[in-house]
Amino acid sequence: MKKTIFTVFLTLAAAMLLITPHTTCAKDLSGQLEIFSWWAGDEGPALQALVDLYTKKNSGVEVINATVSGGSGVNAKAVLKTRMLGGEPPDSFQVHAGQELIGTWVRADRMEDLTPLFKEQGFMNAFPEGLIKNIGTDKGIWSVPVTIHRSNVLWFVPANLKKWGVKAPNSWDDFLTIAPKLKEKGIVPLALAQNWTVNHLWESVALASLGADNWDALWAGKLAFDSPEGVKAWELFGKIIEFTNQDASSLSWQQATDMVVDGRAAFNIMGDWAAGYMSTTKKMVPGSGFGWAASPGTAGQFLFLADSFGLPKGATNRDNALAWLAVLGSREGSDAFNPLKGSISPRTDSDLSKYNDYAKSASADFSKDRIVGSLAHGVSANEGFMNDFAAVMEMFLKSRNAAITAKAAQQTAVKNGIGK
Ligand code: GAL
Repeated sequence: MKKTIFTVFLTLAAAMLLITPHTTCAKDLSGQLEIFSWWAGDEGPALQALVDLYTKKNSGVEVINATVSGGSGVNAKAVLKTRMLGGEPPDSFQVHAGQELIGTWVRADRMEDLTPLFKEQGFMNAFPEGLIKNIGTDKGIWSVPVTIHRSNVLWFVPANLKKWGVKAPNSWDDFLTIAPKLKEKGIVPLALAQNWTVNHLWESVALASLGADNWDALWAGKLAFDSPEGVKAWELFGKIIEFTNQDASSLSWQQATDMVVDGRAAFNIMGDWAAGYMSTTKKMVPGSGFGWAASPGTAGQFLFLADSFGLPKGATNRDNALAWLAVLGSREGSDAFNPLKGSISPRTDSDLSKYNDYAKSASADFSKDRIVGSLAHGVSANEGFMNDFAAVMEMFLKSRNAAITAKAAQQTAVKNGIGK
């Protein structure tokens, strides 16, 4: 009898081992792993560090690092869509935490619930609760975060500002006072690049104009885009883009950063992947080589976004992908990736001694600032809104009519279910 119970117990234990879905470290993995992102070229070194770490831990797996270049995923997202809808998902792909993930792939029921992985890897307590809300629904947790980036940052070269006799502006009024003086000297006051970077600039300007409460109210559907406050944000934006470069639409975000680095432009507003570019690629020293401040009028506010990777349903190499997600979310993985990327780790136990002075200051701000979600990088609005917003922006750039544009933005919000 005893023997029978013991045998039943052993059989059950063996069966449990077999059906446990997330055995990521115990097995010797083999075959391939295809990861998909837009971190190519200058954006590649941080990802490579993570791939190297994965390969060290899983030497039997060949990593296929599929990238589609183009800042903010403008090209990659289109390719991903074709692959997902065509039933050929990569094993794991980059996606922004927030509406870009939840309002798109989760809503379409294309992602696997990663709650078991989170429990197995101790991720439940490793990431801030607020962030887990951005990657989760009442039905599950849908991706593993790898970065916390800040969108509202003003970049400059301190030695250049000194030479030109200007200071980093605290407000847009300050900027509009010094911009004509810079222009007279032949310096572009604010470097801008291709289309998505215009949306990126807009969100910093709108946040400054609206304030954090109204910014949140917009996305909750509690403040209309064509309210007087909404119109005012477009008016301010119109004044600011007068001081940007004419060739913006033909430049990558790195080329706009280069304008600041080379002294052709005074300022640029970009996410802190620009810090990664300047320190990792350009070998500039944060503080002395390049300087930063919260974008004008947004001190004390942290416009955040988070890159994450998920596991699509039907991934060919599911076990290898789970092991990838385990490395990506680990302290070791996060602290190998983020110091090169310009971002801070989403983990609460990150080792700050591995980070440079810019990241240290971002980390301090993240712990005390008011956190608000980025529009341009997937947190606040779904892809439907983002696609339509591109046309709204186009309309503004052509017409420069704040009231009409604000009305179009409101129609776009209603169409895409904002606040519902
Ligand atoms: C953002 C992304 C960043 C960085 C940037 C520029 O959307 O979250 O990690 O890659 O685009 O491409």
